[in-house]
Amino acid sequence: MNNKSIFKKQLMLYLGTFFVSFVILGAALSAVYTKYYMNEMKQDLINQGRKVSEEYTKAYFTGDFQSLAHELQMLEEYMSAGVFFINSDGVLILGSPGIPEKWIGQAVTNQKAIEGILNGNIVTLEGKINGLFEEPVLTVGYPLQVGQMAGIFMCTSMPEIERSLHSMYFAGFICLLAVMVMGTILVYIFSKKITQPLLQMNEAAKVIAKGDFEQRVEICTDDEVGQLAESFNHMAENLHQYEKNRRDFIANVSHDLRSPLTSIQGFLSAILDGTIPEEKQSRYLNIILEETQRLTKLTNDIVDLSMAQTSKMTLNKSDFDINALIRETLERMEARFLEKEIVLRVIYAQKETYVLADRDKIARVLYNLIDNAIKFSYQKGEIEIETVPFDFHKIMVIIRDFGKGISKEEQKCIFDRFYKADASRGEDKNGSGLGLSIVKEFLLAHGEHIAVKSEPDKATEFIFSLPLAERNPSK
Ligand SMILES: Nc1ncnc2c1ncn2[C@@H]1O[C@H](COP(=O)(O)OP(=O)(O)O)[C@@H](O)[C@H]1O
Ligand SMILES: [Mg+2]
Repeated sequence: MNNKSIFKKQLMLYLGTFFVSFVILGAALSAVYTKYYMNEMKQDLINQGRKVSEEYTKAYFTGDFQSLAHELQMLEEYMSAGVFFINSDGVLILGSPGIPEKWIGQAVTNQKAIEGILNGNIVTLEGKINGLFEEPVLTVGYPLQVGQMAGIFMCTSMPEIERSLHSMYFAGFICLLAVMVMGTILVYIFSKKITQPLLQMNEAAKVIAKGDFEQRVEICTDDEVGQLAESFNHMAENLHQYEKNRRDFIANVSHDLRSPLTSIQGFLSAILDGTIPEEKQSRYLNIILEETQRLTKLTNDIVDLSMAQTSKMTLNKSDFDINALIRETLERMEARFLEKEIVLRVIYAQKETYVLADRDKIARVLYNLIDNAIKFSYQKGEIEIETVPFDFHKIMVIIRDFGKGISKEEQKCIFDRFYKADASRGEDKNGSGLGLSIVKEFLLAHGEHIAVKSEPDKATEFIFSLPLAERNPSK
């Protein structure tokens, strides 16, 4: 499984950290402990040395060596310390029961220790004391000047100390082992918790990659993984929406392409096979021409829209007079105004108003909006076009008609691609439903907005904003 790698990495990291800290802690503790233990031991031996020296003095004067012997035996058992007495030449004279008989009469050759004791000092030695012991011992020499005695040597075995240290190490090792086992279990549980949702997301991503955009992950933690899951679902939702738009788009395009093509094909074959008599042919050829014009317009609209939506569109901005552009657009559409006998009112904020925008794109925006206004006006209707400055550096352009209007529900959809309120497409044969999407995309590309206000059968207003140019006469 793939979660092995995260689990492995975490495990390595945790165990490594545990191990290093344990080793450092263990080394520091054992150094401190050894020092402390040795000091305690020495102190103990010194205390015992004082006691033995007192016992010896007492025994020497009373002649009763019984309690001294008892004391020495006790000492040997409990402290694992051997005790022997030396004279001023460093020769062993007396020893506790554990001291071998053959040592008596031998001399301690450590000159420094002997001198120290003779000078009345307490001395400590570590090692084998000139071969008397087989193992290294910790020895404290305590001065004693009674009779022929010059000092007492209290020896305790070093391996004894080491054994005690080893048992401490062992306890530490068991702790380390326990912590590592616990750590491994915790890390396992923890990394499972992290990797499980990641694996789930991975599976979901694979399913989405295969085209099932309805796939979601169900993770409701409030940590980073939860946030990732939320973003993931959000992404899936968007993909789903894109996919739906794409399908709708293709369905709409193919529908809008197919119907004119079908009628063109039908009329052409009817003309060719003589079904349509020669005298009527020009009428049908005109219909064919109209249909091809519709197809051209539709394909141009699709290209513009997809250019705008894939943000491949570059704006060619310049300063121009919006009033002049409105006049030009209206002139281009004069025939249609006349045809519908529409009364036109134009109200300019100033004689000239310069805006900074892409002139061709804004011409297209005006054309599409005025085209709709004419299309949805009644015969002998009225259309008003107005420019209103606002916010010091903007101008609003308002296109108002008094035609059939747009209901509240429809207002939400009219800027969507291919949306046409008249779904049957009967009344408005030339509309593709792309006009307002293009308007919106072109304005968005300028960083500007468009809004609609409409009361069905009263008035409909489309309002968009444009930035004023620096060189306006009144500015
Ligand atoms: N001035 C208007 N009055 C009434 N309805 C309108 C007006 N402008 C747009 N609409 C509605 O919005 C829809 C979309 O408009 P548009 O995108 O320009 O497409 P088209 O003009 O190709 O139908 C139209 O079909 C129409 O229902
Ligand atoms: Mg239109």
